[in-house]
Amino acid sequence: MEKEYARAAHGKPMKEHHGEHKHVEKPHAHEHEEQADNETPDDEFAGYVKAGKILGEVLAQTENFVKPGVKLLDIAVLIENMIREKGAEVAFPANLSLNSIAAHYTPTRDDPTVVGEKDMLKVDIGAHFDGFVADAARTFCFNNEYLKLSEASKRALEEAIKLCRPGINISEISTAIEDTITSFGYKPIQNLTGHGVGQYIVHMEPTIPNVKHMAGKKLEENMVIAIEPFATDGAGMVKDTSPIQIYRVYGGAAVRGQEARKIIELAIGEWTGLPFAERWITGMSAFQIRMGLKELRDRGLLHEYAPLRDQKDGMVSQWEHTIIVRDEPEVVTKF
Ligand code: CO
Repeated sequence: MEKEYARAAHGKPMKEHHGEHKHVEKPHAHEHEEQADNETPDDEFAGYVKAGKILGEVLAQTENFVKPGVKLLDIAVLIENMIREKGAEVAFPANLSLNSIAAHYTPTRDDPTVVGEKDMLKVDIGAHFDGFVADAARTFCFNNEYLKLSEASKRALEEAIKLCRPGINISEISTAIEDTITSFGYKPIQNLTGHGVGQYIVHMEPTIPNVKHMAGKKLEENMVIAIEPFATDGAGMVKDTSPIQIYRVYGGAAVRGQEARKIIELAIGEWTGLPFAERWITGMSAFQIRMGLKELRDRGLLHEYAPLRDQKDGMVSQWEHTIIVRDEPEVVTKF
């Protein structure tokens, strides 16, 4: 799942988590009291590795059921159930974005959309273990015409991963991504970026742009990052579209309505403050859900992930992996 870059939904600054999200006590935190603050305890890496391994297995298995003629809704439910059956939790709703939608589409609860013979489908999914998030994506295309477009973002990811060593300037990674995609004759999407992941955090620092920029931050050993190049034959810029189906709730501030309260209970209690899908909300009518979401929106407690579409309706491909920055970069979501 990607981060929107240098822009914000609805013109407001995006509120991102920067580690303030600590509603879950780590059971073994005391064992690490001696460690310096900037050192990540081993069990955190074990969490990322376990979540990543499960996510990689699920992405590998998608080959068996992501096919023309299959409903997006069935694919999403299968993926989300597989993540849980394998012993992890779902970190965000399965993003199943078709063609010129780059990201953030998840099926509605009665979504009739079926994968078509000529479609390009991005499957972008997340799992967490004890909150440690792994995030990865692959592109399916059933039309040979677009194989090269898929290959462009896949190769860009491979080139970027080779560079994920401590001390490298992030601008070098971005340059490798842009150069690889343009060498295939396509554009990278400039307002979508890779990002750090954390405990119960899908998007955090550092930001990893898919286009060249001035040298800035460097990667540090043991950072956990998701790199996700997007390639397109369109504008290379995405814009918000509809229908919004993915949300996140900020904290549990007091709300008036019973509907809003119920959604907060689910969002924080059940889905641990991570992004959720409208179709996950049960026990409420469509009207009640709309009322609840409206109150949360009006109170500024709701982050909405609108589907993102290329501004010129170009076809979009995406590949993504979660990586631990080391002298030998460790791809935790390998498949
Ligand atoms: Co991501």
